Amino acid sequence: MAVFSVFLTLATPALTFFFFLLIVAFLAYCLYVRHIHMKYDHIPGPPRDSFLLGHSPSFLRIMKNGGVVHDKFLEWAEKYGPVYRINGLHYVVVCVSSPEATKEILMSPKYPKDKFVYKKLFSLFGQRFLGNGLVTARDHEKWYKQRRIMDPAFSSVYLRGLMGTFNERAEKLMDKLADVADSKKEANMLHLVNCVTLDVIAKVAFGVDLDLLKNSSPFPKAIETCLKGMVYYLRDRFFQFNPKNRGYINEVREACRLLRTTGAQWIDERKTAMQNGDEVPKDILTQIIKTASQEDSMTEEDEEFMLDNFVTFFIAGQETTANQLAFCIMELGRHPDILEKAKKEVDDVIGMKHEISYDDLGKLVYLSQVLKETLRMYPTAPGTSRHIAEDIVIDGIHIPGGINALFNSYVSGRLDKFFKDPLRFDPDRFHPDASKPYYCYYPFSLGPRSCLGKNFAQMEAKVVMAKLLQRFDFTLVPEQTFDILDAGTLRPKSGVLCSLSHRDYKNK
Ligand code: HEM
Repeated sequence: MAVFSVFLTLATPALTFFFFLLIVAFLAYCLYVRHIHMKYDHIPGPPRDSFLLGHSPSFLRIMKNGGVVHDKFLEWAEKYGPVYRINGLHYVVVCVSSPEATKEILMSPKYPKDKFVYKKLFSLFGQRFLGNGLVTARDHEKWYKQRRIMDPAFSSVYLRGLMGTFNERAEKLMDKLADVADSKKEANMLHLVNCVTLDVIAKVAFGVDLDLLKNSSPFPKAIETCLKGMVYYLRDRFFQFNPKNRGYINEVREACRLLRTTGAQWIDERKTAMQNGDEVPKDILTQIIKTASQEDSMTEEDEEFMLDNFVTFFIAGQETTANQLAFCIMELGRHPDILEKAKKEVDDVIGMKHEISYDDLGKLVYLSQVLKETLRMYPTAPGTSRHIAEDIVIDGIHIPGGINALFNSYVSGRLDKFFKDPLRFDPDRFHPDASKPYYCYYPFSLGPRSCLGKNFAQMEAKVVMAKLLQRFDFTLVPEQTFDILDAGTLRPKSGVLCSLSHRDYKNK
């Protein structure tokens, strides 16, 4: 009892002081939030849900109800115009759809990628993830050094040399689809094209044969888990503190670890081959090893840095293309007239050839239009963001510096001031004679930080689509949804279920 009263005598002032500090800190924070509000409140935007706290609906709630967060951004862009703000406690961002500002900001190296998103993606729930790799590097000099070293693996000469692999992997998909057509089963096209794009990136980038249409592998699931984990990690800052989420968070960490340990193993094998003087391809893996160090010995950080880029290419180079292919098949299934026109072009250009050449790809003009229109409605990597350090004026609105700006290609692609009747799938918007969209169409982002794999992805997509159109008739299984699943990247919720039959293409 005596011990307890001594404890109380000492503890009470300490506790009082602690609570006093807490209240002072809270009041200081409220003043800080108020200061931020006053700085940015003149910018139009949705009303805050309280004097102190953040933006209107919780993004997580939209996601949990199966909605697409980007639809909310679109609704606000329609309501509040080319630049509007959203608040999240003391954090304010501006969402920009003004073409002039998009051009000025994205085309210039002056505006780095923002810290809130890209620094955070260094790790997921404490497990290193994209680190300082090409997508997340923020410092211009450090990024530029990497990009210069990677560029040869994406030059047009090098890409021409990949046509063999694109053809070969797409043929494996055709074999699989032939089995599906013979068995009269339904095909989940998203799953199948995912296997192909993962096979392609593993082979082309890292020289590894996965053959996922035959073998099972933990990679597709690991990539999906990382991307979904990334969404929770970025969009809900309290997610990791909820004990209920502990199991899921461990799963995400485990998925990141799997990608990194696989990377370490594949890199080691390649380094040994290089040290033994074996001939190695000048592929993405070789370039990744070069970006890490020009010296003979590598530090631990060099090793980690190589893994950052390994994971970056594994993630960036696969899912986005697979989702584009699946959305493309979905829209062709919904538009028989467009499908027929695309098939006719393939028949005229490719005929019954199995080996599609680089030059053939250039002649598939309508198919290119179809793929572009697919990314207008479904930009599978829907945006990017930049830090605006100094004051700027966007469409007459003064934006004080020290803010992040979001550029959302889903929003721009669906605003009717940029694209007439935007919910109509119309590849003729991208007809070679049509006027080019002015800084409102950027599914691969724009400027120095635009997608390094754009040409790679579109060559791969064209080879797969051309072979599919050449060999098969397909129809969408009735009553499936055409909704979008917002899972970091955008993908078709239904998986795009199709019934297939063989085309009598040899007689065309
Ligand atoms: C349809 C397919 C693809 C789409 C829609 C797409 C889209 C994008 C977008 C929007 C960015 C900018 C990301 C940001 O600012 O945060 C980006 C960056 C990047 N993408 Fe892609 N991508 C695709 C395919 C690929 C492929 C196949 C590869 C590699 C083989 C790749 C590699 C990269 C890399 C390395 C970057 C970072 C570039 C840099 O900052 O220097 N992408 N991509």
